Amino acid sequence: MTTRAIVSVWNGVEELAQAAADKMSRLMRQAIEERGMCSLVLAGGETPRRVYQKLAGAAHSGLVDWGRVQVFFGDERMVPAGHADSNFGMAERELLSRVPVPVEHIHRMQGERSAVDAATLYEQELADVFGEPVPRFDLITLGVGEDGHTASLFPHTPSVLEVKQRVLGYFVPQLNSSRVTLTLPVLLNARSILFFAAGRRKAEIIRRVLSAVTPTADLPASMVLPHNGALEWMLDAEAAALAPGVRTDA
Ligand code: 6PG
Repeated sequence: MTTRAIVSVWNGVEELAQAAADKMSRLMRQAIEERGMCSLVLAGGETPRRVYQKLAGAAHSGLVDWGRVQVFFGDERMVPAGHADSNFGMAERELLSRVPVPVEHIHRMQGERSAVDAATLYEQELADVFGEPVPRFDLITLGVGEDGHTASLFPHTPSVLEVKQRVLGYFVPQLNSSRVTLTLPVLLNARSILFFAAGRRKAEIIRRVLSAVTPTADLPASMVLPHNGALEWMLDAEAAALAPGVRTDA
C-alpha cells in the first residue's frame, strides 16, 4: 500500500477508541475553522461504535461545534432505522442522540426502501447539500471487514468498478442481501479518511491490505487511496500484529 498512509497503533480497543475520537474531533474543529462547516461520514461496525461512544463522552463535550457539522453515512443495510442492524440506528444511539447536532444536519440512507431507491434518494440529497458533482467530505470514517470490504464495497462486486454513481444500491451475493453504499469516486475525493480496526480477527486482512502493492478488487479497502487527502489507519495492537513494518507487542 501507498506510503502516503499513516498507520497508528494503540494498546487496546479502549485506547484506540479514545485516540480515534480525539483525532475525529481535531479534524472536525479544523474543518470548521477553515471552512465554517464540517461534513462528516460515519461508518457502521463494532470498532466505529466504540469510537462514537468516546466522541459522545464527557471528554469531548463542548470541543466540537455540532451546529456546524453535517452528518452522512458511508453505507447502510436494508432495514428500518430502528432495526438493530441499522448503521444509522447505531450512530443515533451511540453518538447523534448525545450531541447537539441539528436534526436537519443528519442525512441518513433510507434503509427501509429498496437499495436502488435509497441510493437514488441519497444521490439527490448529496447534490442538494453540496451542489457539486462529487462531494468533497471533510472526514470519512471507515471500518474494514475480514474479507477486505469497506463501507459496503465488497470484493469483486460491481460496486468496486462504479465510476458514475456517487451512491450505489446493489445485491451483494456474498451476503445474499442488498446494501447501499458511497462509491469509490466519493471516498477518493475526501479531505481526510480514517480507518478503524481492532482485534485479532482483523490481523490477517490488515496485513493483506497494508502490504498490497497496488489497489485490488480482491481487497476493496486497498482501493481507498484519496486523490488529494490524508489517509490514516488507526489500529489496536492485535489488529496490527501482522502488519508490515509495524512493531507491536501483541
Ligand atoms: C457495515 C460497515 C462495514 C464495517 C466493517 C467493519 O455496515 O458493515 O459499514 O464496512 O465498518 O464491516 O465492521 P466491524 O468493526 O464490526 O468488524
